[in-house]
Amino acid sequence: MERILGGGGGGGAVLPLILTSALALMFYRILFRLRKGANVQDAVVVITGASSGLGKECARVFHAAGAKLVLCGRNEGRLQQVVEELTAASGDAKQQTHTPYTVVFDLADTHTVDRAADEILQCHGHVDVLINNAGISYRGNILDTHISVHRDVMETNYFGPIALTQALLPSMLRQGRGHIVVISSVQGRISIPYRSAYAASKHATQAYFDCLRAELEEHHIPVTVISPGYIRTNLSVNAVTGDGSKYGVLDQTTASGRDPTDVAQAVLTAVRHQSKDVVLAGLLPTLAVYLRAFWPALFFRLMASRARKEKKPKDD
Ligand SMILES: NC(=O)c1ccc[n+]([C@@H]2O[C@H](COP(=O)([O-])OP(=O)(O)OC[C@H]3O[C@@H](n4cnc5c(N)ncnc54)[C@H](OP(=O)(O)O)[C@@H]3O)[C@@H](O)[C@H]2O)c1
Repeated sequence: MERILGGGGGGGAVLPLILTSALALMFYRILFRLRKGANVQDAVVVITGASSGLGKECARVFHAAGAKLVLCGRNEGRLQQVVEELTAASGDAKQQTHTPYTVVFDLADTHTVDRAADEILQCHGHVDVLINNAGISYRGNILDTHISVHRDVMETNYFGPIALTQALLPSMLRQGRGHIVVISSVQGRISIPYRSAYAASKHATQAYFDCLRAELEEHHIPVTVISPGYIRTNLSVNAVTGDGSKYGVLDQTTASGRDPTDVAQAVLTAVRHQSKDVVLAGLLPTLAVYLRAFWPALFFRLMASRARKEKKPKDD
């Protein structure tokens, strides 16, 4: 240990090197945060799943920053409620704000997505930022899960967002600018037991948008994948179970998750800085991502032990 930390011989250079690297990293992070990034004032921003949770908070944060919003969801009444709340808060905003439009459609019905994309484009004639946020979670044991549940989760979390992205991309390419954002999850990087359908849909999301980022680079259209850990929303309440019924429980881990307003602020920062890939999670899930990559055998053992402990899906 002493030698590693610079006790003697060639190790003397190691401690200063570690300290210099750590300081350089800290300095870079501070500079990165201070960078103002692109302005979203008057930018046309489309948010799916804007009726609740993280999508609703993103609507609040981007509205206050002066974006022209198009809010999407399945329930017109809930979307209108969000519009009313934002309009009422307009007086407090430091920027000039705009009354949001709403577009109602079901992402799980990919046949309606082209029509929805047309409706979205009619609102302001173009789209600057598409935030694919809508999603549904799942709780269940693979042995008891009907294949139709896997398909349903994939329709909402994967096929819907990619269909909407592909329907809006041609207009971004024509105008020569745009930005695609997707809210994935830490479970798009690591798979934990009793979340198979959800983790699979988020892994697929990560893979598709990583490919898209590479393919769009020559067109200067950035792609941002955001992978949060637990957020305090109704995601677990709205989750489906193995037989397709609603889970209906606010898990303790979700209840004690991050404040959705903080996560929405981080989404705004990622959009402003055109970040490519952002993991917004605490120390343990972040370590788990690295463990899966660099010491998979240990990660698999830990997950198997977790599966044994949580024989029936209950919490987190
Ligand atoms: N909460 C967490 O712990 C957490 C962690 C990591 C990642 N995320 C991700 O964050 C995103 C937002 O989730 P949330 O936590 O805010 O959950 P939420 O409160 O349940 O919100 C989900 C949103 O998605 C919309 N939605 C669901 N199915 C849809 C469909 N078929 N078509 C159109 N819209 C649909 C819902 O709108 P309507 O029901 O009104 O249509 C709702 O606005 C999701 O992608 C989720 O995977 C959440």
